[in-house]
Amino acid sequence: MRILVTGANGLLGGFLVPELVSHGHEVLATGLGPCRLCFPSGSAYAYRTLDITEPIQALEILQDWRPDHVVHAAAMTEVDPCELDPIACWHINVTATRFIASAVEALGASMTYVSTDFVFDGQKGPYRETDPTGPVNVYGCSKHIAEKAVMETVTRWSIARTVLVYGHSSNISRASLMTWVRSKLQAGETIRVVDDQIRTPTYAGDLAMGIRLLAECGAIGIFHLSGSDVLTPWDMALQTARYLNLDASRMLRVNAETFSQPARRPLRTGFLIEKARQELGYRPVAFAEGLRMSFER
Ligand SMILES: NC(=O)c1ccc[n+]([C@@H]2O[C@H](COP(=O)([O-])OP(=O)(O)OC[C@H]3O[C@@H](n4cnc5c(N)ncnc54)[C@H](OP(=O)(O)O)[C@@H]3O)[C@@H](O)[C@H]2O)c1
Repeated sequence: MRILVTGANGLLGGFLVPELVSHGHEVLATGLGPCRLCFPSGSAYAYRTLDITEPIQALEILQDWRPDHVVHAAAMTEVDPCELDPIACWHINVTATRFIASAVEALGASMTYVSTDFVFDGQKGPYRETDPTGPVNVYGCSKHIAEKAVMETVTRWSIARTVLVYGHSSNISRASLMTWVRSKLQAGETIRVVDDQIRTPTYAGDLAMGIRLLAECGAIGIFHLSGSDVLTPWDMALQTARYLNLDASRMLRVNAETFSQPARRPLRTGFLIEKARQELGYRPVAFAEGLRMSFER
């Protein structure tokens, strides 16, 4: 298939582009500014600069390259900046997605939109695809409205919701909970880690595999693609410290309400992934294995 990826310079893009290429797909990776993907480009992979908030640029690239499928991963992804600048968040996450969805439909292509556990309110996680949504912050609202726009606009649509993505890719410098734990404990600092939120953290390679399966199967609908281990940030931090032989006695367990952050976080999210297992053959790794691959990659 000819697959166009937006946001290819991001964490997911660093795993998704190689995943698609290595399975024989022809890929056009797009991102803001120059290419930061760190694997050799070849005949099956090209890169073009695309700011998704520039409709003319987006239309030109889509009409010129004519993909069979578009994976729309680009987004304003950090929750607090979205809360502090809701107009920018809406522009990137909602308005641009609406436009891309219309352009995809006009081409007769299919589309996977990458979304989030933050479309839920966090009262009853882990969630399945049919559970009612109810975002509690601007980022979650923007992704929720963008999901609806994709469903209403594109005939052959899928939504890949995911949770707390981690993994090391040489194109990204963004810290994860695990890299933060490593750097702080290595520096001999004491850290406070939340133990009353729950998540099902997702190895980025698994998310990439799940999205490839969605495209290849021509799946339509919402799919929860995450890890299967239900963990608190405390559990993840402790496993990280133990794996790296770092001094976990410098970690303090705290409640989420200890932190005052601009955006509210949903307390208990995480996903039930039976639908993806049964319909796609999605098989994520255990967190311990994802941790090992993240630090060895
Ligand atoms: N990471 C997570 O824990 C997580 C959890 C749930 C859902 N998701 C969703 O998964 C998707 C992929 O996220 P990720 O983890 O790969 O996050 P990421 O590393 O922040 O990647 C997002 C990418 O979008 C790009 N972008 C931002 N504005 C853009 C614009 N106007 N035009 C083109 N590209 C733009 C960014 O470019 P720059 O790199 O140049 O800034 C970045 O490369 C997102 O839709 C996100 O909402 C992520």
